[in-house]
Amino acid sequence: MIRAGIVGGSGYTGGELLRLLHFHPQVEVAQITSREHASRYIHSVHPNMRGVSRLKFIHPDALEEADLLFLALPHGTAARNIERYARLAPKLIDLSADFRLDCAATYEEFYGESHPAPHWLGRFVYGLPELNRESLIGAPYVSGVGCNATAVNLALLPLARAGVLERAAIEIKVGSSEGGNRSNPGSHHPIRSGAVRSYKATGHRHMAEVRLALGDDIPIHFSVTAIEMVRGAHLLAHCYLRGRRTERDLWRLYRGHYRDEPFIRLVSGKVGLHRLPEPRVVAGTNYCDIGFELDADGAHVVVIAALDNLGKGAAGNAVQSMNLMLELDEKTGLEFPGIYP
Ligand SMILES: NC(=O)c1ccc[n+]([C@@H]2O[C@H](COP(=O)([O-])OP(=O)(O)OC[C@H]3O[C@@H](n4cnc5c(N)ncnc54)[C@H](OP(=O)(O)O)[C@@H]3O)[C@@H](O)[C@H]2O)c1
Repeated sequence: MIRAGIVGGSGYTGGELLRLLHFHPQVEVAQITSREHASRYIHSVHPNMRGVSRLKFIHPDALEEADLLFLALPHGTAARNIERYARLAPKLIDLSADFRLDCAATYEEFYGESHPAPHWLGRFVYGLPELNRESLIGAPYVSGVGCNATAVNLALLPLARAGVLERAAIEIKVGSSEGGNRSNPGSHHPIRSGAVRSYKATGHRHMAEVRLALGDDIPIHFSVTAIEMVRGAHLLAHCYLRGRRTERDLWRLYRGHYRDEPFIRLVSGKVGLHRLPEPRVVAGTNYCDIGFELDADGAHVVVIAALDNLGKGAAGNAVQSMNLMLELDEKTGLEFPGIYP
């Protein structure tokens, strides 16, 4: 049994990691930290775990050695303490943006500050299995992914890799759990409830991860709008293609690219309500659903994708990466199909 720890376990991604790992047959969560809730039962913060686990939070200063640590901490916190975490465990998965980029200058460009531990950047593998599977197998240090970046990357990878994508303009609608469990003026109920608030029309930080995955030679722009939803990201991408394509060409391309991917589902219904991806269908799962509609001119396709920001956009994806790091079946502990309706 692998003994894992979750640092930042009272947060939203920490809670999701705990829920997933509790049912993982080869991993046991032995330690979980919270400064505010130290010595309390985890169900006092994650009520879905009541009667399921008797684990208690510990203060991060009390962390002991582990086989693997998940770092589910606010931006910058993991990087400032990385030497300590690496002494405590031979394997680390950091869910924050601290180690997603491979270059300190790019980090500074997008995050507006110098990186606290630049010599660690090149040691982490960017943890998106659909992009970096081979490098993740057996890797000691893996970063998490940005949820919005993952929606863009998974939706557009087949087009970009096939060289048919000329440019794309994307809108992503997101749920409130993207912001973590600390309240702020934007998360105050009268402001957040019923909102359709575009808060990042240009220059989103996740653009750095999109360039990393798709290359910087394709003009891609995305905006993000907060809507009335707790979990989920819904991406709608207007993609302009090089040359004209048929629907058949595009299906062949997407099916070919994702043929062996366990957590990518292509949605291609001609009838019924769910002909295109929708976040609530993937809530609580590690799936990313992708579909599209080609315009009559054959040169413009609208790609739609949905994922759970805490699932494939964070904790589920991190567990999938962990399975690869530990050379286990990549699907272990992740096959829950969600709930419907
Ligand atoms: N939410 C998402 O959809 C999402 C998706 C992808 C990636 N991420 C990334 O994942 C990371 C965690 O996100 P989240 O939404 O889970 O955040 P969160 O809900 O705010 O949780 C943060 C956790 O870190 C702990 N913490 C805060 N400061 C700390 C410190 N200095 N030392 C030790 N522990 C500290 C907090 O508990 P105490 O204060 O009690 O210690 C809490 O458990 C972030 O970097 C975020 O960017 C989030």
